[in-house]
Amino acid sequence: MDQEAPGGVFPLVIVGLGQMGSAMAKGIVGAYPRAKGLIFGHDQDPLRVAEAEAFGLEGTKKLEEVLSRARTILLALKPLQVLPWLRLYRETFGKDVMLISIAAGVPIKAFREVLEEKAHVARVMPNLAVALRTCPVGVSCEPGFPEEKKVSLIEALSLVGMPIELEEGQLDALTALSSSGIAFVWHALEGFAAAGVRLGLPPALSRKVAVETFLGAGMLAKEDEAASLASLKERVTTPKGTTMEGLFVLERLGLKGILIEAITSAYNRTQAMLSPQKGV
Ligand SMILES: NC(=O)c1ccc[n+]([C@@H]2O[C@H](COP(=O)([O-])OP(=O)(O)OC[C@H]3O[C@@H](n4cnc5c(N)ncnc54)[C@H](OP(=O)(O)O)[C@@H]3O)[C@@H](O)[C@H]2O)c1
Repeated sequence: MDQEAPGGVFPLVIVGLGQMGSAMAKGIVGAYPRAKGLIFGHDQDPLRVAEAEAFGLEGTKKLEEVLSRARTILLALKPLQVLPWLRLYRETFGKDVMLISIAAGVPIKAFREVLEEKAHVARVMPNLAVALRTCPVGVSCEPGFPEEKKVSLIEALSLVGMPIELEEGQLDALTALSSSGIAFVWHALEGFAAAGVRLGLPPALSRKVAVETFLGAGMLAKEDEAASLASLKERVTTPKGTTMEGLFVLERLGLKGILIEAITSAYNRTQAMLSPQKGV
């Protein structure tokens, strides 16, 4: 059965079923209904495992045994938890397993030091919308990662999002812009929704209008990828008009600069992640 599974990444074990592990699990189970029985989930909290079983994952009663059969191990633990976990379980890994980490700020070389010759390591950076199978997914494979495994990995990720191959050094930018960025978008949405309420709309309606506006704006920008973002704005801006007035205030108060600073701060934090002085 393994041989016929789609994508060549199965059996797959997801280690850590918190926010991101369970989002990945939902996306993958949704994308691969045929792989039922080949996607395992492990967490130290049995409640999280039970929740994951409810949407189609297999629990890991015998973790070592499942790890030894896995073609892919997806590590979704907190950054400071991944290396200690690997030290405990690396001896159980089968030959040629793909070890995929979504941990922010933990470099491939740190995995390589712990794993020595074992496993092929790649880092992947999704955001929470992976549960809905709609998000950018940064991918960086270590040098020497087997080509056919990379093809399988990218093929699998393309069903849960938009894989983007990056140099490892660029992954932290994606972490800040997208993985953290989704929260910055929600922050902006809060502002839109509050403005609607201030102007007299009921809160639930205002929220709905704000969300649909963001969705539509994103979809239009996606559809017309060749157009600059500035030219998209020009389409809805007339001299002395209402949009111009609002844009002027955003420019005067420096919204763009604020966003650049916020995302740069998130980036700096990611880079400090494993430092004992500055890290988490
Ligand atoms: N959240 C995001 O939006 C996002 C986006 C991109 C990447 N990431 C990366 O994804 C990783 C996970 O983040 P998260 O937000 O999903 O964290 P999380 O919600 O804390 O999930 C981690 C899960 O792993 C469990 N766990 C801890 N130690 C374990 C062990 N030894 N064995 C089995 N399970 C264990 C935790 O249980 P306890 O709660 O009991 O500790 C928790 O359920 C992080 O490295 C982060 O950098 C997150």
